[in-house]
Order: sequence, then C-alpha cells, then structure tokens
Amino acid sequence: MALYTMKELLRDAEKRRYGVGFFNAVNMEMVRAYIRAAEECASPIIIGTAESLLIYGDFDWLSPVMLDAARRAKVPVAVHMDHSYSFEVLMKALRSGYGSIMFDGTRLPSHEDNVRVSADIVRIAHAMGAGLECEIGSVGGLRDAEGREDQTAYTDPDEAAEFAERTGCDFLAVSIGTQHGVYKATPKLDIPRLKQIAAKVDVPLVLHGGSGLSDDDFRNTVAGGIRKVNVYTDMLLAAKKAIAENPDAIYTDLNLLAENAMKDACAAKLKLFGSEGKA
Ligand code: 13P
Repeated sequence: MALYTMKELLRDAEKRRYGVGFFNAVNMEMVRAYIRAAEECASPIIIGTAESLLIYGDFDWLSPVMLDAARRAKVPVAVHMDHSYSFEVLMKALRSGYGSIMFDGTRLPSHEDNVRVSADIVRIAHAMGAGLECEIGSVGGLRDAEGREDQTAYTDPDEAAEFAERTGCDFLAVSIGTQHGVYKATPKLDIPRLKQIAAKVDVPLVLHGGSGLSDDDFRNTVAGGIRKVNVYTDMLLAAKKAIAENPDAIYTDLNLLAENAMKDACAAKLKLFGSEGKA
C-alpha cells in the first residue's frame, strides 16, 4: 500500500467517529508487532518514535524500517514523529518522509512562546506537505534530558481554541487527566472538559499517556472526541512479561516472544479504540 499520512487517517476517524492508535517503536520487532496487529484487526494504525527514544533506536536505522514496513503493509499505516523539542530532529523527520511531526512546546517558558514557535513550525511542515501536532496544557510524566519530570496542567478549552486558531496546527494533544508512563494512582479523566474542548476546537484531538487506562476510559475519550490515542508503556510491559515468563529462552526466541506479546497487546487496544475493520 502507499504510505498514508496521519491527516488522511484522522480524517476518516473523524468522519466515522473512532480512534486511531499511535504506537512508539525503537526497533524492528516493535514495528512488526504493530503492523501485524493492525493487519490482524484490519485497522489503520500510526507508528513512529520520539526524540527521547532515539537513544534506544537510532533515527537513521529505524526510519527506513518504519517507512518501508508502512509501505508494504496490507492496511493504511502512517509514520509520525512523536514528542520532539529540537528543530534538527523535526527537520530530519520531515526530510525522511514522515507525514507528520509533533512539536512539544510545553517546556518553553511561556504560552506565548509555545504559540510563536508552534506557528513557525506549522509553516515549515505545511511547506513540506506534512502535518503538525502540538500540545496545549501539559500531559505530565515525561522527563527532560536533565531528568526533570513534566508536571500535569489541564487544558483550558478556550485557550485550546485560541491556540489552534493562532498556530494553524493540524492536530492538538490535550491534557484531561492522563499521564505518560506507569500511573501512581488510578487516573480520573475529565470527560466534560474533553467535550468542551472538542466543541471549540476544529482539528483532531490527541490523547497522550494511553497506557494503564481502563476500557471505559478509552470508550469515553473516543466518544468525547479523541481521534488519536498514544500508547507506549503498555507495549513495554507486555514484552517484559513475556520475557520474564521465559527465563531460559535464548535471545532470538525472546525477540519473537516479546514481538508476539506486543502484537496481542496492540491488537487489544485497536479493538478498544473502535478502529477494527476500518482499514
Ligand atoms: P504511555 O507511555 O503512557 O502510553 O504514553 C505514550 C505517549 O503518550 C507517547 O506520546
């Protein structure tokens, strides 16, 4: 199949009111697990990586694997660059043929800085025929290069509408109570807030921190207007469990065991997001 863009996939998701899963990869086994899951479920899918993950999966090695796998898949697959902060990484992703990138401006000193830099990167992404995801409010849990953890700040609906309007971004990540990584307490999602944001913002909304949420959380967020759901940690945990259950397996078999476990975990999420059979 041709390489799809996140914009194309989310346009259909918006029309038919379901969520598309986004899964981060750092190696070939993860890429293969996600594409196998999507093919098994006849579901569209978005795969990609993030700036902080490049220490595990080198950009120049991983990108050709993802792009080639996306082109050869039997279902629509888009390749996206997740949380990126540096201009160099964003431009590298655009030059490599990613259909979309995420500029995370939530660590900039002020809201105005986030608006200004996001708007500049929108112009560059559009000039390259790609889409830009931005974030407003802050989904906590990620750590910067110095180990400082991002704090959660809920998205204000009016601020989100103003941000989308002023930046011209294509997709907007919102903060409604999720966090990246393993939850320390049961998350309580603010669905009324999500609905208010969805009523005011025209671009597709993105939910980060999809690991550890309940089945109902996914149903409610997709029904509330989320069109892309990001998941990473749960894939690592599925692989970890498979490896722990097979302490005597050799490395090559461990790779396969981990891949199969991630494939099953990914397929289960795709079903929950309502994208099964939508390819
Ligand atoms: P989790 O690792 O919590 O699933 O978050 C993934 C994510 O939001 C990537 O951007």
